[in-house]
Parts: sequence; structure tokens; C-alpha cells
Amino acid sequence: MAYETILTETHGRVRLLRLHRPDALNALSVQLITDLNAALDEAEAAQDIACIVLTGSDKAFAAGADVKEMQGKSYLDAYLGDFVASWERITQMRKPVVAAVAGFALGGGCELAMMCDFILAADTARFGQPEIKLGIMPGAGGSQRLTRLVGKSKAMEMCLTGRMMDAAEAERAGLVSRVIPAAELVAEAIRVAQLIAGMSLPAVMMTKECVNQAYETSLSEGIRFERRLFYATFATPDQKEGMQAFIEKRPPAFGNR
Ligand code: CAA
Repeated sequence: MAYETILTETHGRVRLLRLHRPDALNALSVQLITDLNAALDEAEAAQDIACIVLTGSDKAFAAGADVKEMQGKSYLDAYLGDFVASWERITQMRKPVVAAVAGFALGGGCELAMMCDFILAADTARFGQPEIKLGIMPGAGGSQRLTRLVGKSKAMEMCLTGRMMDAAEAERAGLVSRVIPAAELVAEAIRVAQLIAGMSLPAVMMTKECVNQAYETSLSEGIRFERRLFYATFATPDQKEGMQAFIEKRPPAFGNR
């Protein structure tokens, strides 16, 4: 399906979603979020898709919520409309979503990247929560997810001053998993996503659930959660195939069951 503000490509079992509002540095308008959510629904439902890559342009992953669209809102417009709630669709994805970030990932753009399962950053990437400079504060999880990822001191400094982090600092701080030369970013993200898409889909989905559980629960409950799903993998044909293939020194042929 074609969208106004999202470009889509399919590479084998990987769906690439590209934020596309070139005149506004991919600012997250209502239209863009509506399109993104529809594209995510489509990828989640597609039997032949196993992993999603979310990217932007060379200049911007996304420069935040659309300031021009938000500027005139009253408190009641914001509160009753609860417009940020619809941004969270991406956090409910069961298939993995890899963010490939080049250029600016600011405000809601940084928050959207942090909602993905992990972030691959181009060496041009710049992350920040500059809402404070607009007289507001992060509203799509920035104060919470950034703090969990980089710790209180750096998160507090970034949220209170609006300072941007470059890619090297973001990698050192644990915000991104790796830094990649900008020209290779999307190809490398697709390669990594294809690697994931070649694994057993139920094992991938259970693994994603477990890692995310680490943010929601105590260590002992998280370990119990992991163990229950670990034992559950032994009910899948893919566990038999994966181990048989190892023993026979051949690549596994997973049926995603
Ligand atoms: N909303 C709407 N339009 C935006 C935008 C945004 N967040 N960011 C950039 N644009 C628009 C600019 O207005 C400009 O449009 P015009 O050509 O029509 O003037 C166009 O995109 C290009 O931007 P610039 O000319 O500013 O480009 P630059 O290279 O000089 O600067 C920048 C780049 C530093 C990212 C700068 O655009 C900027 O500071 N953008 C705003 C960043 C920001 O404050 N984001 C947080 C938004 S609030 C939020 O996200 C709330 C939340 O948590 C839910």
C-alpha cells in the first residue's frame, strides 16, 4: 500500500519503512503517525515479513513532533485529544523493529527511535530532547526511556539543556548499539534485519518479549519469565530443527513454527 508520508520497500522478509516529509525534516505530524501506524499494522500482519527497519533521510530521522501543528493547542486539546498516545503503536509490535538513524533524531524523533528494539546510528546521527527550549518537556517517553538507556546524569543534562549527543557519545552511553558510516547505514540495517528474519520467528518474538520484560519487572520475576519462555521453545519444531542442523553441521531450515 502507498502512504503520503512513509515510503516502503520489501527486501526478502524485511520491510523497510522510511519517514518521508523532506520539507519538514520528517517532523511527526498527525498524518505521518497515522501513515506509520498503518504501515506497521500491515508489516505485523504480513505472513512473509519477519523484521522491520525504520529509517528517515540522510539529514533527519525525525526532528520531533510537528511544532507548527502543535503550537496552537490548548491544554484541553492536548489532554482530551491525547495525541501522543497514538505514537506508541510501535512499542506494541511483536515483530522486531530496528531503527536506522542518520542526521537529527530530536524530541519525538529521539523518542520514536528509542521505542524501536535497537538503534543503529550513522556517524552523522545527533540525538537530543530539545523540548525545554520550546518551553515544554519530552512527552513521548523521553524522560523515561533516555534515563533508562543512558542513566540519570546524562539524561537529566540533555533534557534540561537540550544539548545534542553525537553518534560516538550515543554509542559510549549505550543509546545506540553501533555506529556505521552514513553511506552504509541502510544497507547494514537491512543486512542485520535479514539476519534476524532468518532466525525462527517464534524464538525471535519470545526473545524480544524477554528483553523488554527486563524494563518492566524485578530481576527474579524477569528470570522466571525468561525460563518459562525458554522451556516453551522446546515445544516448537524450530527447536528440533535448529539443534538437529547444528549436530549435522548444516544451516537450519526454520519453518517459523
Ligand atoms: N516541526 C515542524 N517543522 C519543523 C520541525 C519540527 N519539529 N523541525 C524542523 N522543521 C522545519 C523547519 O521549520 C523548516 O521549515 P521551513 O523551511 O518551512 O522554514 C524545515 O523543517 C527545515 O528546518 P530548518 O530550516 O530549521 O533546518 P536547520 O538545518 O537549520 O535546523 C534543526 C535543523 C536544528 C533540527 C531545527 O530544524 C530544529 O531545531 N527543529 C526543531 C527541533 C525540536 O525542537 N524538536 C522537538 C519538538 S517538540 C516534541 O518533539 C514534543 C514531544 O516530545 C512529543
